[in-house]
Amino acid sequence: MKSIEVMKDIYWTGVRDWNLTNFHGHSTPKHSTYNSYVILDEKITIIDGAKLQLSDEMIERVESITSFDKVSYIVVNHVEMDHSGNMPILKKLAPQAKIITCIAGKMALEEHYDTTGWEFIIIKMGEEVSIGKRTLSFFPTPMLHWPDSMVTYIKEDKILFSNDAFGQHLCDEKLFVKDVSLEVALEEAKRYYANILLPFNVQTEKAVDVLRGVDIDIIAPGHGCVFSGKEEVSKIMDTYDEWASGVDKGYAVVVYDTMWGATSTLADAVKSAFESMNIPVRKMCLQNIHYSDVMIDIMDAKYVAVGTPTLNNEIYPSVVEFLTYLKGLAPRNKVGFAFNSYGWKKGVASKVEEYFDALGWDKISSFDIKYSPKIEGELGIKEHLKENISK
Ligand code: FEO
Repeated sequence: MKSIEVMKDIYWTGVRDWNLTNFHGHSTPKHSTYNSYVILDEKITIIDGAKLQLSDEMIERVESITSFDKVSYIVVNHVEMDHSGNMPILKKLAPQAKIITCIAGKMALEEHYDTTGWEFIIIKMGEEVSIGKRTLSFFPTPMLHWPDSMVTYIKEDKILFSNDAFGQHLCDEKLFVKDVSLEVALEEAKRYYANILLPFNVQTEKAVDVLRGVDIDIIAPGHGCVFSGKEEVSKIMDTYDEWASGVDKGYAVVVYDTMWGATSTLADAVKSAFESMNIPVRKMCLQNIHYSDVMIDIMDAKYVAVGTPTLNNEIYPSVVEFLTYLKGLAPRNKVGFAFNSYGWKKGVASKVEEYFDALGWDKISSFDIKYSPKIEGELGIKEHLKENISK
């Protein structure tokens, strides 16, 4: 396993997780990487670790450029186990290396691992650590993605090691975005943002604001490919600003599951009702799409219509799964609409609306129908939606 040169004396020593198809609940069709970096300077420094199960790959990459007994510092930007899982192994290989992290990082490391004998340098934000020709400085990015998250910057090289921020679950033999595709990297950055950072829009806006004051030529994240050049750096920062602003694009998402086809028929009617009001629609059945992929479209949507059959007086299981996930990610300022096909007892649409209420969304009055709609004219859903949406 070879390391890859990012720039003179700075190497990527991360690992590629080709088998990953789901990262704590969200689908990762392009898999992922856990990026670590080595800086060769008077004090050799490792930036971040890797997932425990793939530790050997990182170790080989580090050893292709240096030996662990020469490492002075290991920077821990974030303690989630995809970045720190192999920290106890790295510390065994480099017992002399001091861990540089913030106080929340130290506490989280102590809560995850036996850190007996580990020496820490606890940095405060804005503080600098010289490693020879280079200076490391640190900026807080709390909740991007955990309270301990921070980023590391080298002013001499204008490189930012951003850990989860600006990451993509994108695995490729090529390291640089320019060699893969900016379009693909942004697409995967969006999937990542929608499923990981969406609850933290406010913190993201603040972090991007701070980082805009820093002169950055390269963003080397903890996942996926490296953004290089001012144009790519500006693009991902502008895009993050746009996502974090929560401004919708005015379209509707219709998401549903169906038991015997009735809710599917309702979903078609909901779609055509929105379209008749010149509101673009993205309709998805949870039998054909992972609930986490729906989040990519929900992020920019104005209306979210959720359809469910009644099963044993409850919301259909796949729809519950989606709603639970949605509630956790807490997208704001949407308008929810629940529609339902029931058998002998009404009431499930209002259970869907409880999720909208928990999210603080506005609601369009719900619609339900007994058993199966026979012809579209009987549905009444178009009229219902039109009437209630214009209220
Ligand atoms: Fe990539 Fe929050 O860990």
